[in-house]
Amino acid sequence: MADYEDKNTLEKPYTLFNNETGVSFEIPIIKSTDGPDVLDIRKLHEETGLFSYDPGFTSTASCDSSITYIDGNKGILRHRGYDINDLARKSDFLEVCYLLLHGDLPSPEDRKKFINVITTHTMLHEQLVNLYRGFRRDAHPMAIMVGVVGALSAFYHDSTDFSDLNQRMIACHRLIAKIPTIGAMAYKYSVGQPFVYPKNNLSYAENFLYMTFSVPTDDFNINPKIVKAMDKFFILHADHEQNASTSTVRLAGSSGANPFACIAAGIASLWGPAHGGANEAVIKMLEEIGDVSNIPKFINKAKDKNDPFRLMGFGHRVYKNYDPRAAVMKESAHEVLEVLEVDDPLLKIALELEKIALKDSYFIEKKLYPNVDFYSGFMLKALGFPTSMFTVLFAIGRTVGWISQWKEMIEDPINKIGRPRQLYKGHRSREYQIESSREKKSIFNWLWK
Ligand code: ACO
Repeated sequence: MADYEDKNTLEKPYTLFNNETGVSFEIPIIKSTDGPDVLDIRKLHEETGLFSYDPGFTSTASCDSSITYIDGNKGILRHRGYDINDLARKSDFLEVCYLLLHGDLPSPEDRKKFINVITTHTMLHEQLVNLYRGFRRDAHPMAIMVGVVGALSAFYHDSTDFSDLNQRMIACHRLIAKIPTIGAMAYKYSVGQPFVYPKNNLSYAENFLYMTFSVPTDDFNINPKIVKAMDKFFILHADHEQNASTSTVRLAGSSGANPFACIAAGIASLWGPAHGGANEAVIKMLEEIGDVSNIPKFINKAKDKNDPFRLMGFGHRVYKNYDPRAAVMKESAHEVLEVLEVDDPLLKIALELEKIALKDSYFIEKKLYPNVDFYSGFMLKALGFPTSMFTVLFAIGRTVGWISQWKEMIEDPINKIGRPRQLYKGHRSREYQIESSREKKSIFNWLWK
């Protein structure tokens, strides 16, 4: 067995000792391939009656996984062992999808088959169009994404029995293939243009741009550099181990919910501004800053403990160094702006903001660096996407990560329903009083005041 498959290597266990009762609990350590090993506390409650307490999961590994590795201190991100920089520069999105789903890069023949299976699943059931028409035109496209992806299980009954490997794979392929179509249709619906059907002779990224920006009255031509930048964007967002949305997908899936419902749950979680909604928030923040001369004022606001304002696109739960995706994204954004000859005044503010923040002791001490969202918004804005679509684009790229993590969980023999416990801080047992006596009491309280 390869060393990375060995989940049970034990080394010098820790011992938890209760001085009062004299009871001790030995905590085995499970070795990781890379990064921190973990304390195996699965028997903690059974043997001591205690729970561990870790709101926000800052010290808790919720599962084992061999998909993605992050070293936040060194700014490393690897998928199946491959560095994100290499993948972004040398690979393409569908190859990365194959890698995440299957564990290795495809052979030329497997690559061809995979591309074929994805491109032949890009259309949506025609009746789903009715679902779109039920939304208000000004609905947030992420609301539409949550609704439509959740509804897929009502249309594709033949891929919801995931105990069958074949159905499981069809569900994975359908989700990867259909998510750009769903996203593009959400955009078309919001601008009142006709939906554009996918074209199977286009690449994944080009097809998405085609479905989003082409109109039946005109030819559609796009610079290959733009297509490459879109493809890179999807690669950079493909997976990021156990973040909030991925953990949501796993938790939903652990109860046996169907994969379409699980991905809809992931999309809902991604929507929040502390997660995937940050790229939208970055642009809003830069617009609010408005001019380079206002940067010091906003830096001070971000540092003020009594002000809820934070520098959007800065900081990360895991990266305590430059987010490796941000460096590639910065390059891509510059390239797109150059190709499209866009002179975005917000970029000047962003570059200056980054420069000032990276020299400021508050950001240095707290290890707050730009994350991937800091630069992605520029590229998307230059391409013509409204800010409300930014998180949709993130969701399109991340769907493969979610579904690969879901698949890994379903195929893990130790898969259990996710059921965290709590530290109860509420009332102890209280005597129930009938309503009339509760009312009387409150009237008396009022009279006696
Ligand atoms: N601006 C100013 N101060 C910040 C920022 C920021 N962007 N981020 C963190 N801090 C400060 C906090 O106030 C806190 O200070 P304290 O220790 O004095 O209380 C300290 O740094 C640690 O912050 P936490 O919120 O405890 O760190 P956590 O790991 O929980 O949060 C998060 C990470 C949510 C990403 C946070 O940095 C943030 O809100 N950033 C802005 C939003 C953003 O860019 N999100 C995108 C994340 S990347 C992604 O989803 C792809």
